[in-house]
Amino acid sequence: MKKVLFVASECVPFIKTGGLADVVGSLPKNFQKEYFDVRVVIPKYTFIPDEYKQQMQYVTNFYMDLNWRQQYVGVFTMVLDGVTYYFIDNEEHFGGERPYAGMPWDLEKFAFFSKAALSILPVVDFRPDIIHCHDWQTGLVPVYLHERFAGSDFFRGIKSIMTIHNLKFQGVWDMKTIKSITGLADYYFTTDKLEFKRDASYLKGGLVYADAITTVSRTYAEEIKTPFYGEGLDGLMRARANDLRGIVNGIDYDVYNPESDPMINHHYDARTFRREKAKNKTDLQQQLGLDVDPKKMMIGIVSRLTDQKGFDLISYMMDELCQDEVQIVALGTGEAKHENMFRHFAWKYGNKVSANIYYSEELSHKIYAAADAFLMPSLFEPCGLSQLMSLRYGTVPIVRETGGLKDTVEPYNEYEGTGTGFSFANYNAHEMLGTIRYAERIYYDRKREWNKIVDRGMAMDFSWHTSAMQYQELYDWLVG
Ligand code: ADP
Ligand code: GLC
Repeated sequence: MKKVLFVASECVPFIKTGGLADVVGSLPKNFQKEYFDVRVVIPKYTFIPDEYKQQMQYVTNFYMDLNWRQQYVGVFTMVLDGVTYYFIDNEEHFGGERPYAGMPWDLEKFAFFSKAALSILPVVDFRPDIIHCHDWQTGLVPVYLHERFAGSDFFRGIKSIMTIHNLKFQGVWDMKTIKSITGLADYYFTTDKLEFKRDASYLKGGLVYADAITTVSRTYAEEIKTPFYGEGLDGLMRARANDLRGIVNGIDYDVYNPESDPMINHHYDARTFRREKAKNKTDLQQQLGLDVDPKKMMIGIVSRLTDQKGFDLISYMMDELCQDEVQIVALGTGEAKHENMFRHFAWKYGNKVSANIYYSEELSHKIYAAADAFLMPSLFEPCGLSQLMSLRYGTVPIVRETGGLKDTVEPYNEYEGTGTGFSFANYNAHEMLGTIRYAERIYYDRKREWNKIVDRGMAMDFSWHTSAMQYQELYDWLVG
């Protein structure tokens, strides 16, 4: 039996701001239980819903040295759907309203979390063979494992994996501050270790010290070896190319299932989508105050509103797009300029554009179920889960060919009758508009072809099955 510990800053159903939480919350359920004991540790944020907090059991507490003081570490645990979770408690760090407060506040929070995630292991009597870390918040785990913990019998020989969900965020700050917070010796702050352009980077530390590196699609694994996508770490990615692999994400097929999803009004499958999706659409049109018309093409957007997701292209083309026979339903929060862009166009084209500037799991499911197409013109996209959710719900993705979008959406080819969506190559607003308009023509003029695209999309399998096997192979390769 191999033992694996996931360390992450978010995890469904406890806390989610984006796709990272979906992955950490669903992948561990998909390993073969006879061979792999996979557990998860996350912070015990005070805003985790009460229904889960009530199920947690207190294990112990102790004090840990960090940033020149002794800090309280409480440990809680619970089992959910067969997976054991550990929660690290410290109200000073995890008591805010959101998981992230931004820099520099998050630096000490996640140094604390990373060190605590290792410190609790002897106490809870779980010695993993592999510690699987996710994103910059846990980048210090492989570093601490190397530094403090490798000397002890308990930690000796534990391997680590660093999974990159987004290379853009690295936990970079000035070296002096990071030295002081982490307590790491000067030895660690050279260009071949944590130093990054005269500052210091948590993620870089993780990428240098992890035994293996993964990212969430094959294309992104290639892209990050180039300067455009490499965020200053493309050299390191090339240097570690032999230890870097891309394993595409899946989604939880029990949660995202149009046949049983409790958040949608009309259930459907590949046989009944033609009728039932339109009912979900008219319900949503009514709910959001759009023109109620089952035939009108609805384009959905569910996203963090950041530059990554291509909103400058959308902003540039919105006026033109709104001349067409389409409705646009957006759900998301993020940068003010993008939030205001959607508010503006919802005000200008009230019966066509619906801007929902908040976070709602329920509305997101309703959009996946109601929309005809889903727009995701990302500048870069390590994997992307929204397009997978769309495919599952018979909603045709319109994407830019980058990262995981390229790997999971096959462009429609009208001559061969293949493809599950529409895509364009260059980060260019006119190319995007041209592609949307091509999709409109198929939707309105060649409905049978459109429905076949939906059929093929719904027949794809992006459950975790195949990808979980690839992680298992990686674990086997790391610890024979
Ligand atoms: P990223 O992780 O970069 O944000 P992904 O496509 O991997 O992008 O995952 C985004 C996840 O967050 C999806 O599950 C999507 O449905 C969800 N999501 C994003 N914004 C919202 C929102 N405002 N309300 C509800 N769910 C959202
Ligand atoms: C990141 C990426 C997204 C990916 C998600 C889960 O948030 O932006 O593309 O799907 O992580 O791996």
